[in-house]
Amino acid sequence: MCGIIGYVGNQEAVPILIGGLSKLEYRGYDSSGVAVLQGEKIAVKRSVGKLVNLENALKANGLKGTVGIGHTRWATHGKPSEQNAHPHRSKGCVLVHNGIIENYQQLKQQLEKDGYKFASETDTEVVAHLIDKYLQKGHKLADAVRLATKDVKGSYALAVMSEREPGTLIAARSGCPLVVGRTTHASYIASDVMAMLAHTREVTYLEEGDVAVVTQTDVQLTDSDGQVVSRKASKITWDASAAEKSGYPHFMLKEIHEQPQTILDTMRGRYSYETGEADLPDIGLTPKEFAALERIWIVACGTSWHAGLVGKYLFEEMVRTPVQVDIGSEFRYRDPLVGKKDLFITISQSGETADTLAAAREAKAKGARVVSIVNVVGSTLARESDGVLYTHCGPEIGVASTKAFTAQLTALYLLALHFARVRNVMKVADGQAWLDRLVRLPALVESVLHREAEIVAIAKRYYKKRNFLFLGRGINYPIALEGALKLKEISYIHAEGYAAGEMKHGPIALIDKDMPVVVLAPRDRLYDKTVSNLMEVKARHAPVIAFVAEGERELGKIADAVFTVPDTHALISPMLFTIPLQLLAYHLAVLRGADVDQPRNLAKSVTVE
Ligand code: AGP
Repeated sequence: MCGIIGYVGNQEAVPILIGGLSKLEYRGYDSSGVAVLQGEKIAVKRSVGKLVNLENALKANGLKGTVGIGHTRWATHGKPSEQNAHPHRSKGCVLVHNGIIENYQQLKQQLEKDGYKFASETDTEVVAHLIDKYLQKGHKLADAVRLATKDVKGSYALAVMSEREPGTLIAARSGCPLVVGRTTHASYIASDVMAMLAHTREVTYLEEGDVAVVTQTDVQLTDSDGQVVSRKASKITWDASAAEKSGYPHFMLKEIHEQPQTILDTMRGRYSYETGEADLPDIGLTPKEFAALERIWIVACGTSWHAGLVGKYLFEEMVRTPVQVDIGSEFRYRDPLVGKKDLFITISQSGETADTLAAAREAKAKGARVVSIVNVVGSTLARESDGVLYTHCGPEIGVASTKAFTAQLTALYLLALHFARVRNVMKVADGQAWLDRLVRLPALVESVLHREAEIVAIAKRYYKKRNFLFLGRGINYPIALEGALKLKEISYIHAEGYAAGEMKHGPIALIDKDMPVVVLAPRDRLYDKTVSNLMEVKARHAPVIAFVAEGERELGKIADAVFTVPDTHALISPMLFTIPLQLLAYHLAVLRGADVDQPRNLAKSVTVE
């Protein structure tokens, strides 16, 4: 997720662009840049690292002009560097982009054949050259942008300028937000209203496929065919802090609701339905090397470790290869029996967790191939791994990990599918069936999020309780652990996750009327056993909060509170059960007045032992 700003007016552009970018830094902050029309030429200034580095570079050598665009980057393709920072240029055309161009490799090959030279590793640069190609054919800038966006597959929000049409900016969107705003003497483009609140609260959100022609005196909206359209303007009443969270009270809730998009973004461009395969060129292992592997390790910490536990069920069921899962801080001190025949997967949102990093280094030193599932492009773990599978979920600001977790699960589904197909333990049709299930996930997650009010009602009944028990079986046992971690780390309620079958071996002694028990009961082959666990709990007068699959009737009569999730394949169910547990933890914490985004004693990335 990146931040885009554009300005055309009667004031110096740079202060306005920098001011807007400073409000967008939460969207991405590994590099930034601006472009300004100086006389007849467009000048570009870019810096790696925080926005302040760009500000200092501009102070040393400023850009003068009243038309410009700016960008804060959250890298998806190409490490954070000045060369990969936006804006990107092709001759007299300069642009900034948010999104993922899925077919950028094919487009890049064709453009290189057409004589274009690439200066960056990004997917974005292909769009600049595509637009230039159409400009060279005599098209106006708006038409060139429209034609170029028809060639790309994937998601984009673009702000484009050209020396051929000074004083004009073009904005275009598909799959990523873009908003335009006007005042009497200027027009603005931004990824979200945060960047223009200082200037205007009257904004118009572009819709899918829209292209806006933006000048100082006018903003004209057209659809993807170039027909002029009118879109209703919105009046923004949020204060600045609420706007940074897109109107949500906390980043955590905003990120919970981003999950349909982030699951989709993590899948984008990484599968071929025709072959029923996941296409993961960056994991650095040939099919032959995969076939030679004898065991898979998955090592991580906290929520990422829970994702690894889900991965064990996935790989052992789909790939039939033994999987060993471990916590980073345990693995690194065990002189572990890991070696050349092992694939060593590490999972980390930040890519900087000390215990996970140390585990990866230990495994690498012992000859294992290290593949990492990471969210931060260019992070230490990403750079030190033999292969990387990035989760494209943008910066996760809330300390409690939510969208990164489901993005990690998405990456694990793709990896398991990839293994299964290259090792010939899964046929094309079965691979296609898996892809059908995965592409339906964003909509299913959305449907669960739409019923948030039911979770609020449950939270209101139990937020005064001091202890919770979370029970799950099989692939949902890690989800019980994750639900308990979410709750304890943001609400400070003591919560334990347990394998449901284990309850009778001890924890049942804790159960009484003051201990709500959350039970995950998908309609899988363990359902009956889960029901009997639930009866044991009821017999001890504990309140039971049951999360069940749609169509389930029995538990509804027994439990004190029931929430249904769409009925899906057993191996997909963790993706759906985790959503209401995130919401339950969030609303219990809010009702208790906890500091949800920055819980006490915690850090977003634990870079120390
Ligand atoms: C998750 O809610 C926690 N904040 C924490 O357990 C986190 O998952 C853990 O520290 C690992 O972080 P990483 O994914 O960045 O490696």
